[in-house]
Amino acid sequence: MPIEIKNSSSQPLQIDSAGRLLHFLAIEGLDRQRLLQLLDSAAQFISSDTNVRKSQGSLLAGHTVVNLFFEDSTRTRTTFEIAGKRLGASVINLNTSRLSTRKGETVLDTVRTLEAMDADIFVVRDNSSGTAHLIARHVPPHVHIINAGDGRHAHPTQAMLDMFTIRAHKGDISKLRFAIVGDILHSRVARSQIAALQILGAKEIRVVAPATLLPTEIEKLGVTALTDIDKGLEGVDVIMMLRLQLERMEGQLIPSSQEYFRCYGLNQDRLNHAAPDAVVMHPGPMNRGLEIASDVADSDRSLVLSQVTNGIAVRMAIMAELAGMNKE
Ligand code: CP
Repeated sequence: MPIEIKNSSSQPLQIDSAGRLLHFLAIEGLDRQRLLQLLDSAAQFISSDTNVRKSQGSLLAGHTVVNLFFEDSTRTRTTFEIAGKRLGASVINLNTSRLSTRKGETVLDTVRTLEAMDADIFVVRDNSSGTAHLIARHVPPHVHIINAGDGRHAHPTQAMLDMFTIRAHKGDISKLRFAIVGDILHSRVARSQIAALQILGAKEIRVVAPATLLPTEIEKLGVTALTDIDKGLEGVDVIMMLRLQLERMEGQLIPSSQEYFRCYGLNQDRLNHAAPDAVVMHPGPMNRGLEIASDVADSDRSLVLSQVTNGIAVRMAIMAELAGMNKE
């Protein structure tokens, strides 16, 4: 099934009538001012040596954050846990393989059950598009839902940490050219990145992939689609690589791993097509030798680990905002 191109707005669910952020479900529906405010707020959680501050006292004291991940995760789940704890919240990581959803309980009943235990922020990852939205429609106003990745639809906190990292290393996004490279078709990361880059006024956004991994109507999103990676990388300031989502592929969409790396893997020669000071990003998990060569992934042009670290600060800012703790 192709990526859904139509511009779905999550605004009515995400923002209340007073303009407060109720849930963080998708980048679409948020405006430039909101994104910049969250990015500036995240900067407050970074100390001068760029490490995330160890503790922010008790901004979320008395709050309970539940990590409800029905899909695997290393970065997102762990950084949400660290972020919640640094804000003083209780954080519960549920082992979804042991949940009563496996006995037939619905996800909504599971959430209601946890609400009855005073959980008030749910971080939700699921392989179905729309799960976080569904839950957000059914919770009372004091409960907040954060989308930690739903199917191929959206991964908005990933996009926010990417925007934060780009601003920290390259400055004003409106002056930069971007290439998003890889499995665009199955990527919730790409969709959220494109939305965030557009809202923040990126100078140019290119998406680069084999034709089989490019949604047919992708250019309706206001990006330029290319199948030639060398052309796609020409002069760009930021290269955003994507993981090949083999678990979401139906049928043979790439000839072989070797062929994919030969034609679309980012190696040093290809990096030379970009601007001389271009940086390289990858949301992780990376497949070395498939999407990216190890010498590029480990080079001083790579921001991959900086993305991970910044994810803590960005997730702290989002949770603090949802809990109403970022008000002046
Ligand atoms: N980027 C990302 O979502 O990584 P995880 O799957 O490890 O959370």
